[in-house]
Amino acid sequence: MATPRSAHRLALAAAGAAALGLLAPAAPGAAADVRYEPGAAGIGDPYFPDLGNGGYDVKRYHLKTAYEPGTDQLTGTATIRATATQNLSRFNLDLYKLNVRSVRVNGRDAPFARTGERELEITPPRGLRKNSPFSVVVRYDGVPQTLSGPIIFDLPYGFLHTRDGATIVSEPDGASTWFPANDHPSDKALFTIETTVPRGLKAIANGRLVKKWSAHGKDTFLWREDRPMAPYLATNSIGRFNVSTTTTGTGVPQLDAVDPEVASDPDSLSTPRNTTRAVDELSGYFGAYPFGSTGSIIENNAVPPLNVDNALETQTRPTYQKQPIEKGVVHEISHQWFGDSVSVRRWKDTWLNEGFAVWVEWYWAEKHGGQPARASFQKFYDDPPSMPPGRPAFWDVVVADPTRDQIFHRAIYFRGAMTLQALRQKIGDERFLRLVRTWVAEHKYGNATTEEFEALAEKISGQDLDPFFKVWLHTPGKPTTW
Ligand code: TRP
Ligand code: ZN
Repeated sequence: MATPRSAHRLALAAAGAAALGLLAPAAPGAAADVRYEPGAAGIGDPYFPDLGNGGYDVKRYHLKTAYEPGTDQLTGTATIRATATQNLSRFNLDLYKLNVRSVRVNGRDAPFARTGERELEITPPRGLRKNSPFSVVVRYDGVPQTLSGPIIFDLPYGFLHTRDGATIVSEPDGASTWFPANDHPSDKALFTIETTVPRGLKAIANGRLVKKWSAHGKDTFLWREDRPMAPYLATNSIGRFNVSTTTTGTGVPQLDAVDPEVASDPDSLSTPRNTTRAVDELSGYFGAYPFGSTGSIIENNAVPPLNVDNALETQTRPTYQKQPIEKGVVHEISHQWFGDSVSVRRWKDTWLNEGFAVWVEWYWAEKHGGQPARASFQKFYDDPPSMPPGRPAFWDVVVADPTRDQIFHRAIYFRGAMTLQALRQKIGDERFLRLVRTWVAEHKYGNATTEEFEALAEKISGQDLDPFFKVWLHTPGKPTTW
């Protein structure tokens, strides 16, 4: 969602420019020299060639959906505001399987085609001029599909069914299971998520609950996330929930939604409490909490066939598929800085998310009477997790280029965290924490790469760290000297 530089100035000159054909380039005979080309069907991520799309930059999604757990039908109208980054004759959105009923671009019907499982190819009636804003309205419906595969260790993700509704946990490529998206973290946008469900159920999404209303036996919930968000971090959990609200010590509004079966466990109070503590305490270490709200969504997937205890750092409000323990909350809240505010530029860099989140768990333990992070490092260094058959052994993964199916391998988490702890010990606590705080501040609401992290570490430490990062991040095998 980079800001359009020239759009405003162009608008000021609109009357004259329009007369010259500059703003209405598709008019026959006008601006014959302007060439329009299709946007790419992928945003250029080498691990996921189909993900995201080229040629435009989304500013805002307004997702208006209705979901019926009884029939599993989702009906949606997505209004997307974007800016062209090239002269566009055609562009794509990602949408997994669902039926498209109509597409409008700038208020006019636009022809569209499905090309492949998740590409929606749209031809606006007039070419879209580089730097000009445009709107797309997609009406769609169908039964949303759950994804699974080697990337998430064959666990279900994307649109998931729960006993009383649904939940959505989309990392890395599942956003298109429920809305048409430019599904890549390098195109963040603001979100309004408006959901209609049968009365008695709730829809819990990201950000602030702006309003809710009832009509015709249904309830509608309107949520707004007003800080840039990657599409995979958008969520919408539908079902029965006990909702509680509070404010953290640093003044962040908090909303926790707990499945009633989980809520009957007295332990369920621990997650809202741990969320408050983590938001406040991590703000002290890494700089102010980056978002306008926090909280949790706790599902009850403890019963087969679901029985998944995964959690995802959905922005502002992590989604836990089961009641988490304290370190699970610390992990997901730490992702609000590392992953959600500072996001990967390409999926090969997931260690920047997961390595940090695990390192923060270690740091938290150290600060709370547990073992020091250097002991956690030693434990994993001496005795790394064993991997299931078919997975590379722990020390065989190249952390900064693990291949697509290993972006959530244990090595990304634990060798990633070990890299940070080894760096802390090499450059010293004071410089390391300054590095982390600078990292978070420089890339706030943005995207970053391993190369940028390495460069910043060298700048702040004043050391040549190439040999260090080569051993830890770019070479397979257990590091012995660094
Ligand atoms: N990022 C998650 C974590 O906190 C792991 C994860 C990746 C995940 N993809 C997912 C969890 C999909 C649930 C669903 O470690
Ligand atoms: Zn994580």
